[in-house]
Amino acid sequence: MFHLKRNPAYMSLYKLICIGFLYEVPDMDSLPVGLAGKGELYFNGGMSVLKVVDLKKSYRTGFFLTSTEVLKGVSFELEPGTITGFLGGNGAGKTTTMKCLLGLCFPDSGQIEYFGKPGMSSEVKSKIGFLPERPYFYDYLTGEEFLLFYGQLSTNLSRSALKSRISDLLKRVDLSHAKSRLLRGYSKGMLQKVGLAQALIHDPEFVILDEPMSGLDPDGRHSMAQLIEETARQGRSVFFSSHLLHDAQQLCKNLVILAGGQVVYEGATESFLLDMDSGIEVTCFSNGKLERHNFQNNEGVQNFLRTALNEGKVVQAVQPVRRSLEQAFVDKALRAGDRS
Ligand SMILES: Nc1ncnc2c1ncn2[C@@H]1O[C@H](COP(=O)(O)OP(=O)(O)OP(=O)(O)O)[C@@H](O)[C@H]1O
Ligand SMILES: [Mg+2]
Repeated sequence: MFHLKRNPAYMSLYKLICIGFLYEVPDMDSLPVGLAGKGELYFNGGMSVLKVVDLKKSYRTGFFLTSTEVLKGVSFELEPGTITGFLGGNGAGKTTTMKCLLGLCFPDSGQIEYFGKPGMSSEVKSKIGFLPERPYFYDYLTGEEFLLFYGQLSTNLSRSALKSRISDLLKRVDLSHAKSRLLRGYSKGMLQKVGLAQALIHDPEFVILDEPMSGLDPDGRHSMAQLIEETARQGRSVFFSSHLLHDAQQLCKNLVILAGGQVVYEGATESFLLDMDSGIEVTCFSNGKLERHNFQNNEGVQNFLRTALNEGKVVQAVQPVRRSLEQAFVDKALRAGDRS
């Protein structure tokens, strides 16, 4: 297939066959993001970093090339300078959405707007950093050589300026000590960090990370979370997908939750959590014993407190019972997906 692709005549034939079977032929070098296929990409000149409207995408699979709609009209908007979590179960369509955003696959329809600039110019591309779900690392390169390679592709910096940026990035991702080590000697967490450094090498304004914490242990997740936070503190907008809902809960100002190819929640993480409050718990001491009582509303709590105080109980805490994002996600998002 590699030889076919390199021969122009065979390549045209290959494309025709692919189009005939409705497969995709992503040609990353020549493809302006969003201009290929029926999907439309334009820029609104507004304030959002990214606006996605009614994005649809189907794949044809199996012997009979049955069409399956993977994205069923996905719409959302990202605020600048914030971290937004893109959550969803396996197969929800997160990677497909991100691929559409980057022009790595062609949407059937829908619109994608990036920060107020017309067309996917090289200028706009240069403002986006990307860490794919399954990045490939040339493991015979050292960490520093790897970043030098990508830096030379994506920046116009002189070699010495680039080396100084790489040194700074390696420091930030805590890999200075391993800069001369071959990537084959890096742990999974170290590879994710060098992958993030690669996404930041050209100093992008907007960073898209597909599962940056996947496969990391709690330490690795914590350290990746800190890096993501630091990236946003420097004024960048971050959009990252994750299954690790606990991390998203702590990191993200906003959430976009996808289920079955549809957005089931878009908005503030806090509002999502408030929406998920499932009552109020009162903890008190009575006759030396700890008691916990659950109420569905404030009225129930007030009635209980009046009686409890009259009876001489010592009230220790009154707090909302909040389901974790994980529980809320399972309850709300996945069920919504099932209904679709
Ligand atoms: N090239 C393809 N051809 C056919 N079907 C595909 C293709 N890519 C993705 N799909 C299907 O699209 C659906 C969404 O996949 P996608 O990878 O976007 O999900 P995801 O939310 O990223 O899942 P995960 O959390 O497992 O990474 C899945 O059912 C998948 O099988
Ligand atoms: Mg994915």
